[in-house]
Amino acid sequence: MARFIDELKRTHDCGALRATDIDGEAVLFGWVQNRRDHGSIIFVDLRDREGVTQIVFDPERSPEAHAVATQLRSEWVIGVRGVVRSRGEQFSKKEGKLVSAANPNLATGAIELSVLEATIFNRADTPPFAIEDDSDTREELRLEHRYLDLRRAPLQKALRMRHKVNQATRSYLTEQGCLEIETPFLVKYTPGGARNFLVPSRLHSGKFYALAESPQLFKQLFMVAGFDKYFQIVRCFRDEDLRLDRQPEFTQIDIELSFVNQDDVFRLVEGLIFAIWGAAGIDLTKLYPEKRFPRLRFDESMEKYGNDKPDLRFGMPHVDLTPLIVEHGGGGVPFWQPIAEKFRTGAYRRDLPAEIIKAMRVPASANLSRADVDKFEVSAKSMGAAGLARAKVGADGQWTQSPFAKSITPELCAAINRALGAEEGDLLIFQFGRTSLVHTVMANLRVQIAKKLGWIPEVGHGGHWNFLWVVDPPLFEYDEEHKRWAAAHHAFTRPHDEHVALIDSDPGKVLCYRYDLVLNGFEIAGGSIRLHDPVVQSSVFKALGIGSAEAQEKFGFLLSALRYGAPPHGGIALGMDRLAMLLSSTESIRDVIAFPKTQKGTDLMSNAPGGVAPTQLEELSIATVVKP
Ligand code: AMO
Repeated sequence: MARFIDELKRTHDCGALRATDIDGEAVLFGWVQNRRDHGSIIFVDLRDREGVTQIVFDPERSPEAHAVATQLRSEWVIGVRGVVRSRGEQFSKKEGKLVSAANPNLATGAIELSVLEATIFNRADTPPFAIEDDSDTREELRLEHRYLDLRRAPLQKALRMRHKVNQATRSYLTEQGCLEIETPFLVKYTPGGARNFLVPSRLHSGKFYALAESPQLFKQLFMVAGFDKYFQIVRCFRDEDLRLDRQPEFTQIDIELSFVNQDDVFRLVEGLIFAIWGAAGIDLTKLYPEKRFPRLRFDESMEKYGNDKPDLRFGMPHVDLTPLIVEHGGGGVPFWQPIAEKFRTGAYRRDLPAEIIKAMRVPASANLSRADVDKFEVSAKSMGAAGLARAKVGADGQWTQSPFAKSITPELCAAINRALGAEEGDLLIFQFGRTSLVHTVMANLRVQIAKKLGWIPEVGHGGHWNFLWVVDPPLFEYDEEHKRWAAAHHAFTRPHDEHVALIDSDPGKVLCYRYDLVLNGFEIAGGSIRLHDPVVQSSVFKALGIGSAEAQEKFGFLLSALRYGAPPHGGIALGMDRLAMLLSSTESIRDVIAFPKTQKGTDLMSNAPGGVAPTQLEELSIATVVKP
């Protein structure tokens, strides 16, 4: 029988011992963080997931334990039994006197364990990087040895945060009467939404499952089945281009509710956010005493911030100058005249503008240098912009340092100054051209400038939690390429009742009950009230140019189910990884996922995706074409 583990059980974790434990015995197990040999006495920092304890090997107390300690190296796994004692005092050369040896930065800093007995459970190769809080090791190397990376405190903390988010979610949603029910991962491929990963079927040669990109259809079927309130903390799979806040497999807190309107969904989610933030030790009541989050209309969000996930920790909204410039016939500015002309001749509809002109006012107090602005121009160009036009506002309101200064009419110049609230010394930044590009460039610049000016930190929340519901987006969007209307989200979103009549006559004006929850510029949740009325459903399909045979082919089982007494219902899904990411003050989702994929979708540790044997492919009736 082994002495340690069989006889000597762990009495404390490595973060537990305090001054009140002095003179008691303790058995600790953990990893050697480091070893310091002070002549005859050896100090080791012993680490486990709860913290670090200083343990001391003194040959006078236990020559056997000391002999073990002489061999120890970083990351060896050991067990020790010893007596807890005060760290006492030591002579400080700097202060020339005895000072307390306690380490105020360590929870266990008041004590140390004087070792009486020790064992080595396992030796370790020298790790490819040091297990330290701040690591400047390349992320690739860390991902290759993720099990070592995961030993580092920031990752331990992040995964603990996920645990808390999961626990708080389960208990809050259970309290609210939601049932946690699972849905299949292997599903039938349905078009629309994110691109699916496909899984070949061995039993049905030539056929494929799709990996579920979300439980969307199934959770609606739960409502038809009468489950009323559902939730699931569920893995979703999407074969998309990856970004810092996107992974091919990620986790949603998925919710669906019967007999609710949009406000009911919001209340439930607001409560959930309060519960999750509370579990993370953050009280949101001071910021949101009513426990309600503000709302912003989708069109206003696009106009003021250029996207539907604005960071509202700071102001600096955009102003759409198009109507003003159209009114002034381009105001003498050669770049703007053709756009104004197209509006005048009716080539562009005001509600469907293909090109716009937007500006943003950076206050004089920001004191941006020319070099700073040049850097923003480089950034704008990298996003596809032709350049970054600007103007400095003079004492008389006239513009200097601007490509427009010479040509613009004084009337338009004054009108733009008024529209932007521009004052002496302010810097005006302009973008014009294709609407989607102008929005993207201006939205990104707004955030980049705010970071440069220190209005928001480069990374993290800076103690500010700006939640925002973005509501009332259009149900349809115009697909310029195919010259037809497409569903902006999905075809089962409920339009506003007063807009149902417009579905046939003016689809672009139909708004719907679709909503996103945004936090500090990140979309953390999205959902909608669903369309359960078959009559409205068929007019939506008609507007989308989907015939009944096609609808049956694409959405068959959901359409059938909706005919058997579907209750009014709606729901939402929160991006759990993004919540954990924001709570952990990082801007890479990889930092809060135990085993993430790289930007290229690979797992550097296991080398997935990998090849398979020809026999495996044969079994699946698959032949591959390897691209050069
Ligand atoms: P949606 O597609 O908006 O809605 O997704 C919901 C939330 O999931 C998060 N998210 C992601 N997180 C990490 N990596 C990704 N690739 C990724 N994609 C999405 C976002 C997003 O807000 N079925 C609907 C929900 C509903 O209508 O009820 C859905 O999946 O935070």
